[in-house]
Amino acid sequence: MGRGLGAFGKTVGTQALPQVDSTNLRLKEWAREGRIRPPYLLAADSQTAGRGRLGRCFVSPPGTGVYFSLLAAPPQSADCGKITVLAAAAVCRAIEETTGLRPRIKWVNDLFLRGRKVCGILAEGLAQGVVVGIGINIKTPEGGFPESAGVAGALDVETDRFYLAGLAARHILSGLENLDDPAIIDDYRARMPLIGKTVGYTENGAHKTAQVTGVADDGGLCVLGPDGRHVLRTGEVTLGSEAFLGL
Ligand code: BTN
Repeated sequence: MGRGLGAFGKTVGTQALPQVDSTNLRLKEWAREGRIRPPYLLAADSQTAGRGRLGRCFVSPPGTGVYFSLLAAPPQSADCGKITVLAAAAVCRAIEETTGLRPRIKWVNDLFLRGRKVCGILAEGLAQGVVVGIGINIKTPEGGFPESAGVAGALDVETDRFYLAGLAARHILSGLENLDDPAIIDDYRARMPLIGKTVGYTENGAHKTAQVTGVADDGGLCVLGPDGRHVLRTGEVTLGSEAFLGL
């Protein structure tokens, strides 16, 4: 496991397991039962029931990626949107530092490399704190990703997976110490190349297209469409081929 999860300058509970149902589910259950307290990092080599946003599953086969969740205690005032923004930029930075690769963020918190999704992030709030779950595809599975994984791809690089997880968690924890620092959103904007691109989204059941004009300070996506300016705060956007070129 190399340098492993112990990449911390402060005390963080850690555990690495060969397989779990879902690292998010485990941490939420353990936190509710009072078995763990934040900060706590659980990483797994595979998941049998990896969960994604919008009720999707996250394909998590053994030996190909790292699936991890961080239980953290953010400041009282913190909203999940800002934590999501912090996590996306923090994981990007950790990947860059450990592999030299430069994934880009597709709003709100998918990481893409060479036009393929290499990382997904699912942040969930609970009474005991927030669970930030991150799945990074390191290698393409033998035979490729199943169709259910959509546009999934992998970093396809040799790296110490568990060290990468620990470093990403450390970046998130240090960002949480000053979530109002404008450097966090600036870092996110610099890694999110959709500005000026046309995206699709669904609002009240209607499909719309609009041009991205920026990222609001709270992480919302600012768009300009035929019916004016909007700030998108939930859901996801679809991209045309031109927008994909930047990812
Ligand atoms: C998405 O792409 O929609 C988010 C995917 C989040 C996947 C990670 S893997 C570790 C953690 N445990 C889960 O069950 N989900 C997250």
